[in-house]
Amino acid sequence: MRKRIHILAMGGTIAGKAGDSAATTGYQAGAVDVEELIAAVPQIKDVAEVTGESIAAIDSKDITAAEQLRLAGRVRELLLKGDVDGIVVTHGTDTMEESAYLLDLLHFADKPVVFTGAMRPATALSADGPLNLLDAVRVAASAQARDRGVLVVLNNAIHSARLVTKISTTAVETFQSPNGGAIGAVNDGVVVFYHSAELHHLPNALRVSEQLTGQGELPYVPILYGHSDDDGRLVESVVENGAKGIVYAGMGNGSIPARVEKELAAAVQKGLWVIRASSSACGMVTRAEDSYEQAGFIASGLINPRKARLLLQVAVSAAMPAGEWQKILA
Ligand code: SIN
Repeated sequence: MRKRIHILAMGGTIAGKAGDSAATTGYQAGAVDVEELIAAVPQIKDVAEVTGESIAAIDSKDITAAEQLRLAGRVRELLLKGDVDGIVVTHGTDTMEESAYLLDLLHFADKPVVFTGAMRPATALSADGPLNLLDAVRVAASAQARDRGVLVVLNNAIHSARLVTKISTTAVETFQSPNGGAIGAVNDGVVVFYHSAELHHLPNALRVSEQLTGQGELPYVPILYGHSDDDGRLVESVVENGAKGIVYAGMGNGSIPARVEKELAAAVQKGLWVIRASSSACGMVTRAEDSYEQAGFIASGLINPRKARLLLQVAVSAAMPAGEWQKILA
């Protein structure tokens, strides 16, 4: 039987329109509707029975938790109804790794959810969107993609939502997984997986996804970017502004300047969670210094600051026991 794949469109460059086909910047993101995106790739019909629906038409830098949770709610509904075999989400690349990770945390089914996008607008010479969309549908329709959580497919590569990140401002090969590599590829239309990624779904994802998609917002958890001569004054400011937690994107192995460490330790005393992450491109953030442990900071492990922020927002929002969400990082 032909697989039924439903496409949810969020906007982004894949749906971008520019006045000039040589233009790869200065275009309007999210201007092409989902039916047009599907019609631009007639080969999709040979792979699966495809339907489409628009959830948003935005430049993903402007996405809010409300829109991310609206997407999560629609995915939840489709998975519970059971009349699709897989879901593809077309999304802007700037925050794709965040929305994909949030959905991965909340994923409760064995059916694949596959994110894709493009670095060149739909109107560009050598637009990368059409092949990315075709590959994403191929992966979503593949029996091998089951039980692998939320995936990100661009430029013929398959990545896990947990480890993928956008590393280049403009290159089509921008999505990489520096801690572990791509988990598969689409070679000349053939979907192949090299290895499994460890899944990051919450143990009670079905209940948490119902709660969060119902409430439509996430608590304020800012990321503070560490740098030389950081004196920690921003910590006090975000605490006063109602932060429920802080992710500190420190140097190297999540290192924190002494003056900032003092402020962050005071924030923990006031009841905030503090995650030590890193602004480095790859590597794991480990427990490192004893003083970090004594202050109650949590090491981000293999995930980057933007994903650590989402995990903390979800954990605080769902009042998850500390051991439960910290196990995911460890
Ligand atoms: C966006 O993130 O919506 C714009 C950039 C892109 O999709 O590549």
